[in-house]
Amino acid sequence: MSADEPGLLKRLWTRLWLRRASFSARYGDLEQLYKVRDPWNLLTPREQARFAATNALVAKLAPATLLEIGSGEGAQTHWLQQVAGHVTGIEVSAAAVARAKQACPGAEFHEGRAEDAARLLAGRHFDLVTAFEVLYYAADVPVVLAGLQGLGERLLVTAYRRRAEQLRPHFTGQPGWRQLEDISAEGTEWEVWLWERERG
Ligand SMILES: C[S@@+](CC[C@H](N)C(=O)[O-])C[C@H]1O[C@@H](n2cnc3c(N)ncnc32)[C@H](O)[C@@H]1O
Repeated sequence: MSADEPGLLKRLWTRLWLRRASFSARYGDLEQLYKVRDPWNLLTPREQARFAATNALVAKLAPATLLEIGSGEGAQTHWLQQVAGHVTGIEVSAAAVARAKQACPGAEFHEGRAEDAARLLAGRHFDLVTAFEVLYYAADVPVVLAGLQGLGERLLVTAYRRRAEQLRPHFTGQPGWRQLEDISAEGTEWEVWLWERERG
């Protein structure tokens, strides 16, 4: 076996399940993905640089309470804990939640779908809700966004530039939304969108 084979197999495995899961709410497929650890390679220098840049944005918002949608195995939660008072994660994969609890003992995790966040969190409200690299799997993005807006004062979204096309119309020109400067790391770009509750 060549040194590259485990990486190649992992990439093929991830690609297989992600193709099926795109904009479909086939969340069982995401659970399959977590049969391997770190399926999105979030421990690579490129993704760690993205987390650092995202943290710089979150730090400016200085949230005491942060709700992280799609908290996975806690790879980004670990970073968010440095710039938020308390982090609560919601993640659809049970295997990922179990690993996140081990990795980030100071954070709180719930197994469930973004679509059910209001029910899972029963009346709680957050300074900041984040949806980083997570909206690509929902079947009805406007419904998910409306639900998340009901849970917080602000909603911060990142989307990988090459996959952002289908998401952009949900933000561009929509009330309360504005685009922030892109995140860029090792030749890859992510779009960043911020929604803020309008003060009346
Ligand atoms: C690409 S990973 C992103 C992890 C991290 N937020 C980041 O930016 O690197 C997407 C995560 O969101 C989870 N996920 C996808 N759709 C979800 C949904 N509707 N509700 C909760 N979790 C979801 C996936 O299982 C996965 O762990």
